[in-house]
Amino acid sequence: MTLAEPELEPRLPRAALPLNWPEPEALGFGQVLAPYLIVSDHDGEGWSPAQVLERDDARLAIASGTVQYGLSVFEGMKAYRSPDGGVHLFRPEMHLRRLNASARRLHLPELDETLFLRSCVQAVQVHEAMLPPAGRGSLYLRPTIHADEEALGLKQAARHRYSVTVTPSSDPPPKSLRMWAETELIRAAPGGLGAAKTGANYAAGLSGLLRARERGYDDVIWLDAATHRWLGEAGTMNLFVQIGGRLLTPPLDGTILAGVTRDSLLQLARETGLDAAEQAVGLDQLREAAASGKLGCAFGCGTASRIVRIAAIGTAQGDIAVPDNGLPASLGARLKTVQEGAVADYPSWRVRI
Ligand code: COI
Repeated sequence: MTLAEPELEPRLPRAALPLNWPEPEALGFGQVLAPYLIVSDHDGEGWSPAQVLERDDARLAIASGTVQYGLSVFEGMKAYRSPDGGVHLFRPEMHLRRLNASARRLHLPELDETLFLRSCVQAVQVHEAMLPPAGRGSLYLRPTIHADEEALGLKQAARHRYSVTVTPSSDPPPKSLRMWAETELIRAAPGGLGAAKTGANYAAGLSGLLRARERGYDDVIWLDAATHRWLGEAGTMNLFVQIGGRLLTPPLDGTILAGVTRDSLLQLARETGLDAAEQAVGLDQLREAAASGKLGCAFGCGTASRIVRIAAIGTAQGDIAVPDNGLPASLGARLKTVQEGAVADYPSWRVRI
């Protein structure tokens, strides 16, 4: 699917920068919420045209499938400023495809390309003043579809709302994480919701994250539900490990998210000549690779975090120390240039606004 050139909307409000607006590096992620939402409503027949709404004026129906049963799905997508001053969205067509796949799984109405792209373009235009300079951050967009009918029975809702929330964000700072491989709780099981970007997966995952932190780790690695042997994904990221020179990421078996960053990294890694594959990775295999010097590196990746090196994986049998062969930093730097349009490669990944 190729998205059509977005149309510019001349009469939109424009958010002004508040006086105490922080430097881009101090924005962090998800802390500063932009003042406007873009919204559209679905009455069972079709979506209304996208409109701009003040975030403070948005209401949420408490007796809705969203609040009561978690009937909502979302995306996380970034808009960047390129070095030439232009503004673009990164891989919107892939985000739309995943949003619609999540919507189908939860029986929510899907979006068409025009509404999705126009709403995301409007969200960026309205908040362009808040988009950090090239290389220093992004506008993170949160397109969301949620059930909006007040009715307490469990059913497919008759009304839904689509919205785009915006949070101006820092460029993710380099860091490394110590992860705990969780062997008691599970995030998702075959046949469940694991591949859908929906709140239930994050709600299921919060205990694992907090338990990892109680043990002195930064984040959790989820394992397969049946045997607790195979790597799934991290708290809010997909996983990659390099063993014997091969870069491996767990396959899309329906229990993990089909990350846009994951897909981009597979392509970028192959382009640099790396042998990169979607292949099941066992915790024992990681331990043996570390012991025999075959473990090159490990990292998590996602839209919000880009690439985060993993320095250790904690297990009941002790920590697996993960070396750093420089790949997370070099791949992360390459991804950043492509995402931000600092290089001309992969032009179809950037939709200019
Ligand atoms: C993203 O990376 O876009 C995410 O959705 C992570 C978020 C849940 C913190």
